[in-house]
Amino acid sequence: MSTDAIVLLKDDHKQIRKSFRDFEKAGDTAYATKGRIVDRIIEQLTVHTYLENEYMYPQVRTLLPDREDDVLESYEEHHVADVLVLELSAMAPDDERFTAKTTVLIESVRHHMMEEEDDWFPEVRKGLGRKALQEIGAEMVKARKKAPKKPSQPSALKKTLDAVIS
Ligand SMILES: [Fe+2]
Ligand SMILES: [Fe+2]
Repeated sequence: MSTDAIVLLKDDHKQIRKSFRDFEKAGDTAYATKGRIVDRIIEQLTVHTYLENEYMYPQVRTLLPDREDDVLESYEEHHVADVLVLELSAMAPDDERFTAKTTVLIESVRHHMMEEEDDWFPEVRKGLGRKALQEIGAEMVKARKKAPKKPSQPSALKKTLDAVIS
């Protein structure tokens, strides 16, 4: 199996998009189903954001200083998603705002993933090269085992704060 960091992250995106479609296919009042799908989305996004925040973005920031603005913008987009994820994790699926909030989360994350895949990853691949991406990916495979699965775990939010404040 490839440990290319971009291949791994794109594979996550694929799984996340699948969950988004499952949510959109669920009936309006299928609260139990929607609740389960949103739990899965929360876990997928928490793990994925952690891996990017901890392992991908800091490397890009160091190795490709020209892309600093993109990294900062991406941290902000992650932050917006983190806020929605945190709110959703405390909300009942039959709350009148649950579906609306999930829909906004889906729109925002779809946009973010598209930008990563279309604008960002190709530049990162060019700038970092195969070997560095393999190394970052290998770290990610290891890190996935200890990655937070819930937004309430401190390690889920720490890196964003560190990166933006330091
Ligand atoms: Fe991202
Ligand atoms: Fe991503």
